[in-house]
Amino acid sequence: MSIRNDSEKPEIKNVLITGASSGLGLAIAQRLMPCEDLRLILTARETSMSRFVELGLKESDRVLLRPLRVNTDAERRNVVREVDERWGGVDVLINNAGVAYRAVMEHLQTEEIDRQMEINFSAPLQLIRLVLPGMRRKRQGRIINVSSVGGIMAMPTMTPYSASKWALEGVSEALWYEMRPWNIRVSVVQPGFIRSSSFLNTRMTEASRDSLENVDDPYHSHYFYMERLIRKYMNNALATPETVARKIEQVMRARNPPLRVPATPDAYLFAMLRRIIPRPIFHRILYQALPGIRDWGENNHLDR
Ligand SMILES: NC(=O)c1ccc[n+]([C@@H]2O[C@H](COP(=O)([O-])OP(=O)(O)OC[C@H]3O[C@@H](n4cnc5c(N)ncnc54)[C@H](OP(=O)(O)O)[C@@H]3O)[C@@H](O)[C@H]2O)c1
Repeated sequence: MSIRNDSEKPEIKNVLITGASSGLGLAIAQRLMPCEDLRLILTARETSMSRFVELGLKESDRVLLRPLRVNTDAERRNVVREVDERWGGVDVLINNAGVAYRAVMEHLQTEEIDRQMEINFSAPLQLIRLVLPGMRRKRQGRIINVSSVGGIMAMPTMTPYSASKWALEGVSEALWYEMRPWNIRVSVVQPGFIRSSSFLNTRMTEASRDSLENVDDPYHSHYFYMERLIRKYMNNALATPETVARKIEQVMRARNPPLRVPATPDAYLFAMLRRIIPRPIFHRILYQALPGIRDWGENNHLDR
């Protein structure tokens, strides 16, 4: 399958993927690698570039491997400028790179909140700003922002992560309206739990780590039960990076991609529940369903 223009001829499209050296980004890269109607710009942090070589992903006349820390203005500009000069601009931007801090509000420093918002929200926005003029001139383009179920429903102990994905959803929705006159399609892909080791990459703050290790900390149960729940669901999830990558390719190639795309079975379920259950009832049900909720804030009767 290929993206087609109005005259139905397959066109070569230039696809820029952020965070392409691991997890979902890597799965997208590996999936798109054999597609001859695409040129790929696979980007990763400088320190992770060696993984491309280890994984056998090599440069070619249709693949560029470039360092890109998404939260660094100069690197963003360099990559986009090079694609403009070499291949005539980015046609598809996949904002995949992201980080997740695991901490309740009291356990976050300003720096950590800023870092979370910078990588998951501001950086995708800045990249979008750089590629839009070219897309507008061509009167076509695709922007795919990787959000999360955390962008549909905020999760305790993931406060700034939820905020960053909600913000990304808001921007995507506004952009969907703004860019439609130029045939630039914006989608926000929402994975739920993915069976992968990504959970190991979630960042704890000093205070949240201390709390998880200290049963007497007022927030200990929050972390203890949520960690156990997330780990269990991630280990048993039906979705894998590969199934989500397939979904992203479908979105990329769809003539009329939807704005919001739940990308895993649990994401579909939560999106549906969120639509049909009145908000106050939804929040009450979810609160009651939180693991070990009777122990939260207590720490006296941990059921382990
Ligand atoms: N895994 C899940 O269950 C899940 C669920 C919902 C949504 N998501 C979303 O899916 C996306 C991919 O996550 P994943 O599951 O593949 O997690 P992951 O394995 O931790 O991958 C995250 C990627 O982002 C990159 N990254 C982090 N900071 C960066 C920076 N400053 N500049 C450039 N790249 C940076 C990482 O690079 P390094 O390897 O160099 O650190 C890594 O390649 C994220 O947006 C995440 O929020 C994941």
